Amino acid sequence: MSIAALSLLLLAASSAQAKDPAAGQRVYLANCMACHGMNADGKGPAAISLQPPPSDFTSETFWATRDAASIRTSIRAGRPGTPMMPFTQLSDADLDNLIAFLESKRP
Ligand code: HEC
Repeated sequence: MSIAALSLLLLAASSAQAKDPAAGQRVYLANCMACHGMNADGKGPAAISLQPPPSDFTSETFWATRDAASIRTSIRAGRPGTPMMPFTQLSDADLDNLIAFLESKRP
């Protein structure tokens, strides 16, 4: 394999692993916005009818007791007994990007 091909391969591998909040925002808008809101503040169009209300990812109180790992679990497994459903169809890369987007909203 040529050096050029090898470096292209390495470049592709590293960009596949990089977390991309902009890509995460696209996943968010397609899957989460209706409840969690355009600005990730828990005020989506469906939020008014939901109990408990959707989490506000711009809240310091929310982040005080959460981290990337606990958020990943909540997205994959949902929150039983609440309208937060499990999202099993998202790829690991989508999830990484999505979490990077949510973390970008952390105050
Ligand atoms: C049908 C409405 C709805 C949709 C769609 C939805 N959520 Fe939620 N989500 C909720 C509600 C309601 C809660 C609050 C659950 C609770 O208080 O335990 C919640 C809570 C959460 C939490 C916090 C869990 C915790 O640790 O307390 C995270 C993270 C989350 N949602 C992420 C997402 C992501 C990411 C998406 C899109 C892939 C999404 N949600 C889509 C309604 C929704």
